[in-house]
Amino acid sequence: MTLPPVLQHLSLPVIASPMFIASGPALVAAQCKAGIVGSFPALNARPAELLDTWLTELQRELADYQAAHPDARVGPIAVNQIVHQSNDRLAHDVEVCVRHQVPIIISSLRAPPREMLDAVHAYGGIVLHDVVSIRHAQKALEAGVDGLILVAAGAGGHAGALSPFALVGEVRKFFDGPLALSGSIATGDAILAAQAMGADFAYIGSRWLATRESNVSDDYREAIVTSNAADVVYTNLFTGVHGNYLKKSIVAAGLDPENLPESDKSKMSFGSGSAKAWRDIWGAGQGVGLMDDVPSVAEMVERLKREYAAARARLSLGA
Ligand SMILES: Cc1cc2nc3c(=O)[nH]c(=O)nc-3n(C[C@H](O)[C@H](O)[C@H](O)COP(=O)(O)O)c2cc1C
Repeated sequence: MTLPPVLQHLSLPVIASPMFIASGPALVAAQCKAGIVGSFPALNARPAELLDTWLTELQRELADYQAAHPDARVGPIAVNQIVHQSNDRLAHDVEVCVRHQVPIIISSLRAPPREMLDAVHAYGGIVLHDVVSIRHAQKALEAGVDGLILVAAGAGGHAGALSPFALVGEVRKFFDGPLALSGSIATGDAILAAQAMGADFAYIGSRWLATRESNVSDDYREAIVTSNAADVVYTNLFTGVHGNYLKKSIVAAGLDPENLPESDKSKMSFGSGSAKAWRDIWGAGQGVGLMDDVPSVAEMVERLKREYAAARARLSLGA
């Protein structure tokens, strides 16, 4: 199946994933200018009225950049919508995105409702839905999404527990549309591996935390750079859903990472109180051991391109 036009002209097959708090306009603008998909959760624009301002300014900045660099591949913007009853902004945020004709909507948690899909499809936008299991993948496809994001074991934030090989392999048995794979992808070699497995795109989150443009504290960046996979804890304590977090931040919050209590899904909330938890408890995937510096996004994308080309050459696929 051919990819939707909006995903055909990237400088690298990479979708930068949306990250609560961390993905602000500076990060998204830098990602798009580097030719990959740049994204942010709608909920990062607080209060809700700020979403319109962010989109207006981002779209203007990217149009100006494209005009000044006619040959540059400028990536599209994607906005993440959390489909959950605790997200009381959903209708507002979708309306703003429809008004701005945001080319890609990334839906998470529940499958997107029919009205949301119809509204996005009406202007030619696409909806990619993020899943951690085969059952969720099937449900989202039945609902009518255009593509899937498979969140495998080791991903930052809310993460699955399945091997990427199992997840991609099983989904490819019944879906030949746009597929992105996530979970600890932080190098050009891993982007190629995701494609070799059957995905079309690498969906990368944590690597952008340790860039100059991310909206995180210097302590958080430093913790990413100095942590390894063994310093990442998988727990459902903080949001009711299992996710990966840096051990250092759990210790700093006065908790014992080896003995965390269990939580349950009824604790899941995307209301205003959730922001504080994510500011203090640092989400990150198991790929942190591959992040040893804090480059700019442009430098990072150039590095990924070099690594990707070198990996292709190593496997005799041509640069
Ligand atoms: C700090 C942090 C916050 C995140 N917040 C969100 C979010 O608000 N919405 C969402 O769909 N995914 C969120 N994610 C998950 C990412 O979109 C993506 O699935 C994950 O980062 C990919 O794995 P990686 O970090 O190992 O690259 C978050 C991830 C991190 C690390």
